[in-house]
Amino acid sequence: MVLMRLFGLSVFVSLAVVTAVVFVSAKADDSEVETQLDERWWSPGDGRVFPEILDYSNASGQLRIQLTGGEIDTNGHPFFEPYGPAGRACITCHQPSDAMSLSTETIQSRWEATNGQDPLFAAVDGSDCPILPQDDPKSHRLLLERGLFRIERPWPPKPFLDFPERAPDFKIEVVNDPNGCNSGPEFGPDAGKISVYRRPRPAANMKYLLAVGFEYDPKQGLGLPRDPETNVLLSGNLLADGRASTLKDQMNDAAHSHLEFETDFWSDAEAQIEDFLLRVYAAQQVDAVGGSLDDLDAGGGPDLLATSEAGQLGSIGRAVWSEFEAWETMTEAEKTAIGPEATAWRESVARGARIFRDRTFLISDSAGINSPIGFGNPVRNGCAFCHNMRQMGNDVAPGQVDLGTTVLPFADPAPELPLFRITCLDEPHPHYGREFFTQDPGFALSTGKCADVGKITLQSMRGLSARAPFFSNGSSETLQEVVEFYDRRYNIGYSEQEKTDLINLMSAL
Ligand code: HEC
Ligand code: HEC
Repeated sequence: MVLMRLFGLSVFVSLAVVTAVVFVSAKADDSEVETQLDERWWSPGDGRVFPEILDYSNASGQLRIQLTGGEIDTNGHPFFEPYGPAGRACITCHQPSDAMSLSTETIQSRWEATNGQDPLFAAVDGSDCPILPQDDPKSHRLLLERGLFRIERPWPPKPFLDFPERAPDFKIEVVNDPNGCNSGPEFGPDAGKISVYRRPRPAANMKYLLAVGFEYDPKQGLGLPRDPETNVLLSGNLLADGRASTLKDQMNDAAHSHLEFETDFWSDAEAQIEDFLLRVYAAQQVDAVGGSLDDLDAGGGPDLLATSEAGQLGSIGRAVWSEFEAWETMTEAEKTAIGPEATAWRESVARGARIFRDRTFLISDSAGINSPIGFGNPVRNGCAFCHNMRQMGNDVAPGQVDLGTTVLPFADPAPELPLFRITCLDEPHPHYGREFFTQDPGFALSTGKCADVGKITLQSMRGLSARAPFFSNGSSETLQEVVEFYDRRYNIGYSEQEKTDLINLMSAL
C-alpha cells in the first residue's frame, strides 16, 4: 500500500489497483474516490456528463482534466457519439484518463475486458492490417504492444498547403512489410498508398498547438501558410506529418479514416467538436511522492494551462518550465510541512527544469534544426532549444524536426514495423546522403521532399505520466527510455542524477 497525500486528505491506494481508481470531483479541493474500472473507460455513446474537473490516478500520481466554461452533456455530442459504422467515436482513442491520448496499459486492459471486441480494435487501423485474421491478438500487435494505429497516406502526396505542386523528389521502396499493408494489389506505394504506424497525440491543450509564435517557419525557410477560409495563420503543429493544419481538417481526416465516415462532419458537429477541443486541458496535478504540483505556484496542473497565454517563447529568465524553479527556494517551514521525501523530489524537479533549459549538448544532423536554416551543424544547445513553448514544451517556431526516431541508424530497429528505402532523386539528403532507410517518412509524406524524410512534429509535453509509450512510433516505453534515447543520439553524457531529475520533471507535467 502507498500513502498518497491528496489536498491534505490521505487516501490509501493499493498499487495493484492504482490504475483502476478514478477520482471525480466537482471542485479542486474535494477529490474523492468514486468508482472503479468501468468509470475509467469512456465508451462511445455512454451519455455521461463531462464535468469541469476529472481526476485520474496513474503510476506517478494523479492526472487532472479540466474543462473550462462549464460541464457538457455528451449525449448527442459528436466527439462522444458513435456516429460512424464502426461503433467508434473520437473518445475511443482520446481517453480522459490517458491525458486525451491512449496508453498501452489502457489498450491492453480493454483487450482483456472485451476479448478484443471493443471497436478500438477495428480492422481498419486498430489492427496491423485489415487483411489479417482479426480475432488473433497477434494481428493487433502494434496497437497492443506499442500503442500504434495504422495511418494510410496517399502516394504520391496530394497538393499540400503553399508547397509548389510537383512530383516527389525521392523514390520509396518497401524493404520490410511484416504485416502486408505495404505490398500486394491493394496496399503499398505501387497501389498509391503507404501505411505508417503512429501514437494518438493528446486531443487537449489545443490553444497551445494552434498558437503562432512567429509568422515565419524557420524549418522550411518559408512564410507561414494561411487558412484559405479564415485567412488565419496556420501553426503547422498538428499531427506527426502536419497533414491537417486546422482543427476542422483534422477532425474530418479522423472521420474518414478512424471513424470510416463516407462524408465530412456536418457543420454543427464541426463546431461542437472544435468547441470541446478548445476547452479541454490536461496535465498531471498531484505527484505520489511530491504532492500537489501547483503548490507554491509551481508549473503543474491544467488550471495554469487554461489561464496562461499560449505561444510564448521560453527565453532566459522565463524558460519553458521555469515555474518549477519556485521549488528551489522553499522555506524551512514549507519543507517541514511536506516532509523530506517530497522536498527532495521537488528539488529534483526544479533541477530538471534547469537541465532542460541550460544543460547543453551538440545537436547534430537533425533536419529542421541543423538544415536548411542557419543554426549550423552541429549546434550547441539544450532540450529547450526545440521544446521552447512556455507551459507546453512544443515548439513556438512551427514545423517539423528529424530526431532520427524513425530513421536508421538512430531509430530503434523494430522488425515489426515496415521499413522503406528512400532514394533522393535530385539533391542528396543533407545528413543521410542519397540513399537511406526509414520506418516512417513523416513530413515527407505530406510534402514529397527528400529533405523532409523523418521529420516529425513535436508533441506537447503535458500528461506524459498518463500516456506511455512515447515518440510518434512508441519507441520509448518509459520516460527513462526517452532520456536514454537522447543521451545516445546526441552523445550527451548525462549523469545518473541529471537523468533522474529530467525524468522527475517530465513525470510532473
Ligand atoms: C482510432 C483512433 C482514433 C480516433 C477514433 C480518433 N483519433 Fe485523433 N488521433 C489518433 C492518432 C493515431 C493521431 C496521430 C496521427 C498522426 O500523428 O499522424 C491523432 C491525432 C489527433 C489530434 C492531433 C493532436 C496533435 O497534437 O497533433 C487531434 C486534435 C485529434 N486526433 C482529434 C480527434 C477527433 C476530433 C476525433 C474524432 C473526430 C479523433 N481524433 C478520432 C487516433 C484517433
Ligand atoms: C533537435 C530538436 C529536439 C531536441 C534538442 C529535443 N527534442 Fe524532444 N522531441 C523533438 C521531436 C522532433 C520530437 C517528436 C519525435 C517523434 O515523435 O518521433 C520530440 C519528442 C519528445 C518527447 C515525446 C513526447 C510524446 O508525446 O511522445 C519527449 C518526452 C521529449 N521530446 C523530451 C525531450 C528531452 C528531455 C530533451 C532533452 C534531452 C529533448 N526532448 C530534446 C525534438 C527535440
